[in-house]
Amino acid sequence: MQSFDFILFGATGDLAMRKIFPSLYQAYIDGFLPPIGKMIATGRSSLSTEQFIEKLNNNSKIHIKNCDDKKWEEFIHNINYLSINLNETKDFDLLKGKIDNKSQNIVIYFSISPEFFIKACENLTLVGLNDDRVKIILEKPLGMDLKSCQAINNEIAKYYKEKQIYRIDHYLGKESIQNLLILRAFNPIFTSLWEKEHVDYVEISVFETLGVEGRGEFYDNTGALRDMIQNHILQILSLVAMKIPKKLDAESIRSAKLSLLKSLKPLSDEDIKNNVIRAQYDKSGEFKSYLAEDNIKENSQTETFVAIKAELLDDNWKGVPFYIRTGKRMADSFAQIIVYFKNKEDLNSSPNKLIIRLQPENQISLNLKVKKIGKTMDYEENNLILNLNSTLAMQPYERLILDVIEGNQASFNHKEELETAWAWVDPILKNWQENKTPLYYYIAGSWGPKEAFDLIRRDKHEWHNC
Ligand code: BG6
Repeated sequence: MQSFDFILFGATGDLAMRKIFPSLYQAYIDGFLPPIGKMIATGRSSLSTEQFIEKLNNNSKIHIKNCDDKKWEEFIHNINYLSINLNETKDFDLLKGKIDNKSQNIVIYFSISPEFFIKACENLTLVGLNDDRVKIILEKPLGMDLKSCQAINNEIAKYYKEKQIYRIDHYLGKESIQNLLILRAFNPIFTSLWEKEHVDYVEISVFETLGVEGRGEFYDNTGALRDMIQNHILQILSLVAMKIPKKLDAESIRSAKLSLLKSLKPLSDEDIKNNVIRAQYDKSGEFKSYLAEDNIKENSQTETFVAIKAELLDDNWKGVPFYIRTGKRMADSFAQIIVYFKNKEDLNSSPNKLIIRLQPENQISLNLKVKKIGKTMDYEENNLILNLNSTLAMQPYERLILDVIEGNQASFNHKEELETAWAWVDPILKNWQENKTPLYYYIAGSWGPKEAFDLIRRDKHEWHNC
């Protein structure tokens, strides 16, 4: 294994505490982490390494299941904290001085707001931290729209080559999402059924019971469309519908996803009016309304729920609706893909469906009709269920950081994928900014606004809510 240095910008932030450090620790425990040269945590706060370690002990360790105190001590022993002002080149000189110059691999993780990416890249380059040993990880959201995403991509390209840039989408590191590729690529039964001749429609839902959880300021400027649809859900959609490439390497997978994203049918204002629902949660019982959460602007119009009927212009999928939806403060937390197969025989039977449950459980089930036991020819619905839950499943951030160290970009977004996704989302953002379509409301803890049900019922379908 090659040795590596790890530099984290945004080390005192929520993501670092909840996910990044626990994942690095897990990689260390699992024996996957190469010998660490230096692990440098940076942030704006002026803290000593001891104070930072105390923060980690209080705020990060609690996110590790069955943490082994001795191993944790060993792990944190490698961490140094450095307070950095991203605008000050001299701070980057100090940073350079702290890394191990003999490392073959330097991973720099930007867990900071994208507005700071460019300055940080410029300063890293000024101190020579951009040679081929360096790989940078960029957290989402990359920009607020197509223009800002392109600006970031173009500026960063001045300092780093595309093969050094890892745009992270943690959904791509989930076991169940990675399995989707295997399921599609190595089961010929699905390959032949996976297109418009046989598929009636597809539903993709990602629901959370949580609200904005102390992230009010970020969320209010972001909203569900940017936070979940532009990245996670469009990535899931592209993995569901892309053509399976001949080789499953990074270049082929990324280019198959890109072609699929390019085939998303652009949405006119008329389409948005008919096929895109935005809504915000209102109070109910124990739950506050979104507007009453901390750090939310008065009368904010930010959406916490989105449902869209999307279509693809791709030959394989023309005419097949993809109903996608996401929401916070919903009745239940789950992520699932459901493929509804066509019923071509006129036996008055409901369609077969394949349910790919991504979370909380990793499960695939095929819904079938079977004969009721006994002296009857009546049938009932039953499920062929494959449970893929395992305690060995790796957490997404652990897997993805290890992929970066190995130089495997298969589960990271190419810049064109993100730009194409923004190009599709932009007209919706514009339409909403111009208030051309209403913001609806739903009761916190419910299944969403009535209008989202109307959207799918219009086509004589129902959302699968469990
Ligand atoms: C993040 C969003 O990218 O994904 C959050 O910013 C959301 O708002 C989270 O809660 C959901 O991730 P997961 O893995 O819990 O489904």
